[in-house]
Amino acid sequence: MNKVSDVLIIGGGIIGLSLAIELKLRQVKVTVLSKDFQSAATHAAAGMLAPQAEKIPPSPMLDLCLQSRAIYADWIRKLEEITGLETGYWSCGILAPVYEVEEEFLNSPFWVNQAEIRQLQPDLSSEVVGGWWYPDDGQVDNRALAHVLWMAAQQLGIEVLEGVAVTEFVRENERIKYVKTSQGEWQAERYVLATGAWAQELLPISADALASAIAVYPKKGQMLSVRSLSSSQPLNQVLFGDETYIVPRKDGRIVIGATSENVGFTPDNTAAGIQQLLSGATRLYPPLKNLPILELWWGFRPATPDELPILGTSAYENLILATGHYRNGILLAPITALLIADLLEKQNADSLLSHFHYTRFGEK
Ligand code: FAD
Ligand code: GLY
Repeated sequence: MNKVSDVLIIGGGIIGLSLAIELKLRQVKVTVLSKDFQSAATHAAAGMLAPQAEKIPPSPMLDLCLQSRAIYADWIRKLEEITGLETGYWSCGILAPVYEVEEEFLNSPFWVNQAEIRQLQPDLSSEVVGGWWYPDDGQVDNRALAHVLWMAAQQLGIEVLEGVAVTEFVRENERIKYVKTSQGEWQAERYVLATGAWAQELLPISADALASAIAVYPKKGQMLSVRSLSSSQPLNQVLFGDETYIVPRKDGRIVIGATSENVGFTPDNTAAGIQQLLSGATRLYPPLKNLPILELWWGFRPATPDELPILGTSAYENLILATGHYRNGILLAPITALLIADLLEKQNADSLLSHFHYTRFGEK
């Protein structure tokens, strides 16, 4: 038995690593077990920080997202200071063009007309008739951020064990006693489940009453990237269209996403998926047609039935849940780390957490 830390975090994607760093900075002894860092949705994402462009309605979820967006710049500064590395954080704003105007759009303070939208972004499709401009939304290069988080964890002396898969919770009454893994048994005072789209693998529905509450399932997203031909990036901000978005990186890459597919953990890019992305993106911004394709990839969003994350205590007194971030896990990482660290450290939950408790799905 490997008797480890105060807190054992299962899953080393953006949620697990962000929480580990927050806890370590509070002097908590923390260990992360990571089955496969490269397969994390963290690497597959577009990195948009987009509570407004994603059209999250006024709700506790919007509050959570806006709070996270508000603390992002400081959080990034802290990580960049720890590591001396850059994350590509860019508060570039997000423009959401449309092909048809509806009367109600014109009353929005975020609405920009045809002339204004072309000033913000030249060379948009001639079909674009206006759109929304969200100057406070932005982006981070999520791959660079993943690397920075990993390096920050190393530099802070956090034990991150890559290639170690937790295979089973061993329980005693209402507590997790230890976990079985691909490399032996591990014990801690408390555990955090941060396994993204794979959350149900540890809590299979038939075996556990709690599991029916951990209703996380994979929602596949296919992506691709192209490369700008000029030395300067032709896009001034993210473009967020119908079922397509275009995310310019500072280094000249342009990321195009994303499909949203209920196909379980089926891997690979498909011809239909890539066709959907290319036709949507080149319709919105025709100059893309001439740019060389760099890369295709895919990943699995941790979806839940109500599209909200599952955060907070569980049916086991020493197991905390931090999963189900669906389309907004990159955005929600700093606030998740903060609120879950508070919960672990002070045992008093922020009232916002109550809206994301697993019990909302009810006993089955
Ligand atoms: P993950 O990043 O998936 O990490 C989970 C980790 O847990 C993995 O490394 C996995 O190997 C590990 N694990 C699983 N099971 C075990 C086990 N039994 N033992 C040990 N380790 C285990 N969000 C945004 O905010 N903005 C975006 O623009 C955006 N775009 C996206 C585009 C796509 C195509 C996709 C797929 C997602 C996108 N997301 C976006 C969502 C975001 O990527 C996720 O919400 C976020 O990555 C979830 O983080 P996580 O750490 O919970 O899960
Ligand atoms: N948030 C963008 C996506 O999940 O595709």
